[in-house]
Amino acid sequence: MKIVCIGGGPAGLYFALLMKQLDPAHDITVVERNRPYDTFGWGVVFSDATMDHMRQWDAVTADEIQQAFNHWDDIELWFKGRRIRSGGHGFVGIGRKKLLNILQARCEALGVELVFDTEAESDLDYADADLVIASDGIHSKIRGRYAEAFRPDIVTRPNRYIWLGTKRLYDAFTFDFQRTEHGWFQAHIYKFDETTSTFIVECPEHVWLAHGLDRADPAESIAFCERLFADNLQGERLLSNLRHLRGSAWLNFQRVVCGQWWLKNEHGSHVVLVGDAVHTAHFAIGSGTKLALEDAIELVRQFKLLGPTSGDSPEHLGEVLTRYQAERSVETLRLQNAAWNAMEWFEVCGARYCDQLEPEQFMYSMLTRSQRISHENLRLRDAGWLEGYERWFAGRAGLDAAQAVPPMFTPFTLKGLRLKNRVVVSPMAQYSAVDGLVGDYHLVHLGARALGGAALVMAEMTCVSPEARITPGCPGLWNDAQGEAWRRIVQWVHAHSDAAIGVQIGHAGPKGSTCVPWQEGGMDQPLPVGNWPLLAASAQPYLPIDKGGQLPRAMTRADMDRVQADFVAAATRAAEAGFDWLELHCAHGYLLSSFISPLTNHRTDAYGGPLEKRLRWPLEVFAAVRAAWPAERPLSVRISAHDWVDGGLTPADAVEVARAFKAAGADLIDVSSGQVSPDQRPTYGRMYQTPFADRIRQEAGIATMAVGAISEADHVNSIIAAGRADLCAVGRPHLANPAWTLAEAARIGYTPIAWPKQLVSGKSQMEALAQRAAQQAGAVK
Ligand SMILES: Cc1cc2nc3c(=O)[nH]c(=O)nc-3n(C[C@H](O)[C@H](O)[C@H](O)COP(=O)(O)OP(=O)(O)OC[C@H]3O[C@@H](n4cnc5c(N)ncnc54)[C@H](O)[C@@H]3O)c2cc1C
Ligand SMILES: Cc1cc2nc3c(=O)[nH]c(=O)nc-3n(C[C@H](O)[C@H](O)[C@H](O)COP(=O)(O)O)c2cc1C
Repeated sequence: MKIVCIGGGPAGLYFALLMKQLDPAHDITVVERNRPYDTFGWGVVFSDATMDHMRQWDAVTADEIQQAFNHWDDIELWFKGRRIRSGGHGFVGIGRKKLLNILQARCEALGVELVFDTEAESDLDYADADLVIASDGIHSKIRGRYAEAFRPDIVTRPNRYIWLGTKRLYDAFTFDFQRTEHGWFQAHIYKFDETTSTFIVECPEHVWLAHGLDRADPAESIAFCERLFADNLQGERLLSNLRHLRGSAWLNFQRVVCGQWWLKNEHGSHVVLVGDAVHTAHFAIGSGTKLALEDAIELVRQFKLLGPTSGDSPEHLGEVLTRYQAERSVETLRLQNAAWNAMEWFEVCGARYCDQLEPEQFMYSMLTRSQRISHENLRLRDAGWLEGYERWFAGRAGLDAAQAVPPMFTPFTLKGLRLKNRVVVSPMAQYSAVDGLVGDYHLVHLGARALGGAALVMAEMTCVSPEARITPGCPGLWNDAQGEAWRRIVQWVHAHSDAAIGVQIGHAGPKGSTCVPWQEGGMDQPLPVGNWPLLAASAQPYLPIDKGGQLPRAMTRADMDRVQADFVAAATRAAEAGFDWLELHCAHGYLLSSFISPLTNHRTDAYGGPLEKRLRWPLEVFAAVRAAWPAERPLSVRISAHDWVDGGLTPADAVEVARAFKAAGADLIDVSSGQVSPDQRPTYGRMYQTPFADRIRQEAGIATMAVGAISEADHVNSIIAAGRADLCAVGRPHLANPAWTLAEAARIGYTPIAWPKQLVSGKSQMEALAQRAAQQAGAVK
């Protein structure tokens, strides 16, 4: 088979050598525009796992790379005059030149033809090639030429970076953050050979512009960076490879994803994209070279799988390339997603974390930036450092800092209420009230969860009037009998547990008058009989009318006054019932949420239009509730921080919403998302709403509760330790297991937790079983 690789970077060279090794009869040429043994760039890093993978495919290359590697374990942070170091991170670094030299030499030894100093204009110039490998990097000409077929999605990111080197040698992967009068810069630094380190400097576009760096020539930019990082450089210079830089020395990262990875050109040659030409990963997780090398491995593996007789013959090319794309596109997307989180962290860290967090917590936040490294991962990497951090965090939470306590089990005080830990039973409708009255079911349900270890048990959405109900089974606080029924439950929880109990008051608005989920029509469907009239910000049904939607009436000012009075009366009864915490439900498309979201509020009066006006009535209700609710008891607001629909509320808007409620006296924002429109397209995943809680906490400066797919102690510990939220609400896991918190404590080996005295005989057994399970899983440290 005749193969031409356009581009002699890691992807093209490695594919060429592996393919030649698979069958020396292949005629393989690599065309590279640079001169031999000449390239741009400094060092690249990748993991031990990539090395193992490479060794399986070509031990000679892997051994040479291994010998040239610089291996290091530590990450060191320079921040606000402090240096913090943690170990166990396991990187390997190599000079890009050295890596390419090894690959080039191996290609030559195997008989691959290397053509340097030659710019390939088009795949069509190689008409006799059966296969053209487009390994021509991020700005791939070949990809551009067939953009319609390859469907590249290229996103240019807002930060600017410059890729420099230095002769100062570092013994850790070093991050240095420096504040200037216009904002923060950060440097990512690592040694890659015996004489040189990579030194990448990065900052947001507006900071870069404010410093006039758009007008600076490369020498001026370097001088600027040398001044900024003078302490760190200790007299060494910053070096550049500017000969290869076109235009500004400062680049924007471009994230590339392609819909199609191969095609057949007009000469009948197959053309396939590999490496940066088909996908890019931000240097924040340092995996671009790994992806390029693994593309090459996978492509060769697919040839090999089809066998020596058929696999590498041209007629099977379509099959091989289809399988290559199917395998690699999933894996690269997974990595790109992780890289995306890490990249975003560096894009926003100046405004969101640098000013807000103390160095210890900033380090933790940085280490867990991709959300792939959790609390327990950090323990495996460097138990000593993590314990030190747990002690620091416990001290900040008011505990004696002599003992390392998992952050999840530190107390949290809000107003006059001290919660024993950070776990909250999320409010969950049970649809089991009769005429709005809670009964024995609720006593048992909430009572069991109060015994189960969570610090705060939130009762479900409790309605402020009969018309405010979602279903006929929803509880209420619109009459005194209901208040008394709640008081019985609150008193039981206070008498028999050390949990606090709160209630969420709400009005279903356009989503009211629907079936109990397990009856007839099911969730969100209108009652077959006995419907009541609905209210909303605008006369817009939640579901389309032809799918059973019921048309609400747009509220008049008189409606607003009446409903506001209902909220105040419910809050007063909640206080009288003895609840420790009150939450105002402004999320999920219900009445107050219907005012906040632009998807559901189309009013043209003083309560519609820009966010400020859409918030007006919800804030009035909040202020009236605040006045009725005891000042020393916490009052939170649940919001939908993202509508997950184009044109809907965004996480940036949610920060404004949080600021407005904070100014009106809210103590905490409970950050949920969605359920405002049936057209929503949420991106689910573990802890998927936590980034919104994090952003609100840092940017609006108010305590937050994270919720949504938080299902392990490890999640709670990571969220609380990184300062992404102050509390974690756990919903469905508490439906399955009322004692979720106690069980998780046992699972992570945290034994000092107190159990209710009646249940305590179960404690040591649960702990022993958990320990045995961990041993069996080989997870005991
Ligand atoms: C600042 C920065 C830091 C990075 N750090 C890391 C890191 O730490 N770890 C890591 O794994 N990755 C890192 N990367 C990413 C890494 O450089 C790339 O992901 C990787 O090199 C991709 O390999 P490739 O072979 O696909 O493309 P490239 O390495 O870009 O190779 C493409 C080659 O094609 C040649 N070429 C292009 N067009 C033509 C043409 N028309 N004719 C002939 N030749 C052509 C180019 O000269 C080049 O040699 C970093 C990138 C940047 C920008
Ligand atoms: C059965 C059920 C009922 C719910 N009822 C409410 C509710 O009354 N009020 C509310 O704000 N959220 C309600 N939710 C949402 C949960 O509080 C929580 O935000 C959601 O389940 C995501 O958390 P999880 O992944 O831990 O379950 C309900 C969820 C479930 C599963």
